Amino acid sequence: MVITRTSIQFTAWYKGEKYELQTCEGEYRKLMVLLCGKIYIEGFGACKGLGRCDTSLIKAEGLHPALNTLYRNETSTLYKTGILQPNKRIACQIFVDENLKNVTVQVTGNK
Ligand code: FES
Repeated sequence: MVITRTSIQFTAWYKGEKYELQTCEGEYRKLMVLLCGKIYIEGFGACKGLGRCDTSLIKAEGLHPALNTLYRNETSTLYKTGILQPNKRIACQIFVDENLKNVTVQVTGNK
């Protein structure tokens, strides 16, 4: 039996550096873990992905509409921190799947 996985490429910016990242479905569950796995990001993910802090904050361009739904604690955390722009998201609440293809994310953390 041959298992094929969808390849996912996207771009990340962190501290002025551009990273062309590649993964496949099933390698990482959440975007925060993928970013931590591929790029060392200081202080990223303080609440370990619970969606309660804003340290895994990103700015996303080109998000597929399927990824525009905010889940769990993301809405309240963004509201508490005064972040109301629709392209600002919490990376630990975004699933890694083919909808992430060709997206550009800028890792901003809670700054
Ligand atoms: S790790 Fe805390 S909100 Fe994502």
